[in-house]
Formats: sequence, structure tokens, C-alpha cells
Amino acid sequence: MPASTAVTVDIHLDERDLRAALERDVRSGLSSSPKRIPPTWFYDEEGSRLFEEITALPEYYPTRAERALLERHAHEVADAARADTLVELGAGSCDKTRLLLDAVEQAGTLSSYVPFDVSAEFLRDAAGSIADQYPQVQVHAVVGDFLVHLDRIPTAGRRLVAFLGGTIGNLAPAQRKRFLDALRSTMAHTDALLLGTDLVKDRGRIIAAYDDAAGVTARFNRNVLNVMNQALGATFDPDRFEHVVRWDERNQWIEMRLRATEPLTVAIQQLAMSVEFESGEELRTEISAKFTPAGIAAELGAAGFAVDRQWGADEGEFLLTLARPLG
Ligand code: SAH
Ligand code: AVI
Repeated sequence: MPASTAVTVDIHLDERDLRAALERDVRSGLSSSPKRIPPTWFYDEEGSRLFEEITALPEYYPTRAERALLERHAHEVADAARADTLVELGAGSCDKTRLLLDAVEQAGTLSSYVPFDVSAEFLRDAAGSIADQYPQVQVHAVVGDFLVHLDRIPTAGRRLVAFLGGTIGNLAPAQRKRFLDALRSTMAHTDALLLGTDLVKDRGRIIAAYDDAAGVTARFNRNVLNVMNQALGATFDPDRFEHVVRWDERNQWIEMRLRATEPLTVAIQQLAMSVEFESGEELRTEISAKFTPAGIAAELGAAGFAVDRQWGADEGEFLLTLARPLG
């Protein structure tokens, strides 16, 4: 067996940066009305592990639907992109990525893989297992926030930038626009973008995906309270918050919230801050927007991308869009 290539890990968010970003989001989000905290903070090691558990739940269709599309179409993606570098934003476990790596490798062009994620420990492990499995591929993991550090991602070579899982739907529309504009500005005209998005469908099915019978999504949702407890000495009691899931018809997105079951005063000791919750008051923890193929094409067009191909529109489950920067 060939010796595995060492993984390079660039840390663009060290512990101090991460903490400062969490402090900023907690200060502003918990003092605003309604209260909110960005979903980025779900993903400590336990949150990343819980997300992996979610992807195997019978109700959570997006991962299976996207994997099925990749199984069928990764070769077409690879043939169209002819990339030598696969960049993956919000890579997580890098699991579905293997389908893309295999296809790009078979197209005969693959030399490096750049997984990018905010969750440092999880990324290190996932990148390490890719490096072991693909010893001929240079794995160059980058820890960072894709809302801040896109410009730190290596730009050498002909790149396929994958943003899978529907994670773009966790950004609010204005944030999504800023993200796509920033991403476009880092891409050369020979690069390609592969974007995975969940599609609008029967609302009962969507809601069930975020409110599973086994309660794993509820644990994932409450985990953000543990993250604040551990990182900032907060005194949230997760048992005093209920997992709430709502479909917002106007915005076509799922909202996850945590609802206080009684009046609560929570100290956030390291911020010298105290937060009052009325009984029934909710903290918004995530939006997860659902899209239409035309809507995605329009958003990409507005950010300076042209859609090359879309897969999955006919089945109506999940969509893969291959796009290129406009000249
Ligand atoms: N792409 C994988 C994982 C999706 S879960 C899949 O399709 O299954 C979302 C991933 O995005 C997590 O790994 C999380 O740590 C990462 N993430 C969330 N917010 C982020 C941010 N602001 N910057 C970088 N990564 C982020
Ligand atoms: C990562 N992201 C696309 C997931 C989603 O479906 O919005 C996160 C998630 N939240 C609850 N379940 C899964």
C-alpha cells in the first residue's frame, strides 16, 4: 500500500477568532428581538456528529436524494468541469465527496482536494480519512468561515468548487447574495461551481425532516445551548427549551427555534450579560430555505454565474446545479 500523502491543514479561524465571532453573534443575537443565533454555532464536534446522525434518519431525505444524484451524474459533472482541484465548502464528513473525487479521478485530472469547514476537529479527521483513501491526492484542508474567509482558499489550478448538502439554504437571502458575490469574485472563468439545494415540495415532508420521531434533530437544535454554555460559561438548561419547527410559506423556508418552557434568566458569565426569556419566548436557531430550479438560476445569474446544467429538477427532490462564472 502506498504511504498516504500528509494532510495540510491551514487554520484561518483559530480558537481566538472563533470565540470572538461567537461572542459577537451571541451579544447581538440574544439582545435582539426576536432572539436569534446563527446556525454556524451548531457545529462543535458533538453538533457535527449529530448532523451525521440526522443524515441517516428515515425522515431526512436531502442527503440521500443528493447522494443519488451524485451517483448518477458525478461523471457528467467531472467531464464538464475537467478540474484538477476539488474545493468543498462546508465539507463536514466529506462523505458524498468520495463520489465526486472518484469521478474527477476517473476523468484523469484530479490532483488536489481542498475541504473547507468551520468545524476544525471534525474537518481534520474527515480530511485525514480522505488522504488515506486517496494517497495520490494532495489534501489541503482549510478551517474558516465561508462568510469571511473565502479569499484564503487556494486558487491555483482549474477548480471545481462544490457547495453541497443544501447548506446555502441556511443563509438568509441578503447573506446568500453577499456570499455568492464574494465567491464569484474568487473564481476564475475556467472554474466551475457545483451547488446542491433542497427543492420546495410537500410541506409535511419537509417539516418531518426537521422534526424526526427519534428526536435527533431536537438534540442537534439544543446543542447550540451547550456550545454557548461551554464556550461562554452560559447557564442555559437545554431541558427547559422545546424544539420548534415551522414552515414559513411566504419565504419558503423551515425555521428551527428553541422555545422557553417557563420564564428564565440565563447568565452568560464570560460576557457579563444576562438574558431574560418569557415563558414561550423563542430563540431562532436556523432557517433552511427550499428553492426552485428557476429561482436558483436567477440567484446565480444575479451574482455573475451562468447555469451550465441542472440535475434533479424532474424528480423534484433535490437539485444539483453546475454553473460557471460569466466572462
Ligand atoms: N456538506 C456536508 C455537510 C453539511 S452540514 C453534507 O452535505 O452533508 C453543514 C456544514 O457546514 C457543517 O460541516 C458545518 O460545520 C459547516 N458550516 C456551517 N457554517 C459554516 C460557516 N459559516 N463557514 C464554514 N463552514 C460552515
Ligand atoms: C446543513 N444544513 C443544510 C442542514 C439543513 O437541512 O438545513 C442542517 C440541518 N438542520 C436540521 N437538520 C439538518
